[in-house]
Amino acid sequence: MKGIILAGGTGTRLYPITQGISKQLMPIYDKPMIYYPLSTLIQAGISDILIITTPEDQGAFRRLLGDGSQFGIRLAYAVQQRPEGLAQAFIIGADFIGDSSVALALGDNIFHGSQFSASLGQCRDPQGGIVFAYEVSDPSRYGVVAFDESGQALSIVEKPQQPQSNFAVVGLYFYDNSVVDIARTITPSTRGELEITSVNEAYLRRGKLQVQKLARGDVWLDTGTFDSMSEASSYVEVLQKRTGIIIGSPEAAAYQS
Ligand code: G1P
Repeated sequence: MKGIILAGGTGTRLYPITQGISKQLMPIYDKPMIYYPLSTLIQAGISDILIITTPEDQGAFRRLLGDGSQFGIRLAYAVQQRPEGLAQAFIIGADFIGDSSVALALGDNIFHGSQFSASLGQCRDPQGGIVFAYEVSDPSRYGVVAFDESGQALSIVEKPQQPQSNFAVVGLYFYDNSVVDIARTITPSTRGELEITSVNEAYLRRGKLQVQKLARGDVWLDTGTFDSMSEASSYVEVLQKRTGIIIGSPEAAAYQS
């Protein structure tokens, strides 16, 4: 399985800082933000990873991460010219993906938890798509999945004004190779983006989308605003100091996987 980290976007909610630096290079406590999704992919056992950035920021990511050999992995780089949606990652990365399955991690998503780490290992050969849902108090900010009584996913809607549930789809997606063709056939949403939600809907229509609820003890944070960055930094700081275990360390993830 190949991995992609999407670290493009303009980070407008973090202006003026992101006018000078990419959001995914900003610190979450003692590490650059991208270390967290990078560690997640390494934990999932993935060692071929494509980093997609804006054209302006690619040099900075290369300086930070190099060819990945320090983590025992291989890193490649590609550019997203404009923020035209998460699903574009599969079109930009088509050659890199080749005939493999692929995991996409968003550059501003942080995961932590023992059950979560254990479930990652089971996603490496998806027959269709595997996504994760997490119960949140503010679902309208996210892709929202509704379930029937048996726990089967019924619908996924991007940033609904009237959400049908409190379950947000988190920014970590595992797909079989057909995702490349699906990404090429979906059309842009009203906000002009190729939505990952459209990809998930396509799998759902085919009856090939597995939606796993994350355990309550697991933690998912997305870090696109000042408040959420500050909260994530506090979370990492408190846990690291209390337990001595480092969160979001590609070295530790590589050592353990
Ligand atoms: C994106 C996806 C959304 C998902 C979220 C997770 O939203 O479109 O479905 O729930 O990531 O972080 P965006 O970050 O583009 O607002």
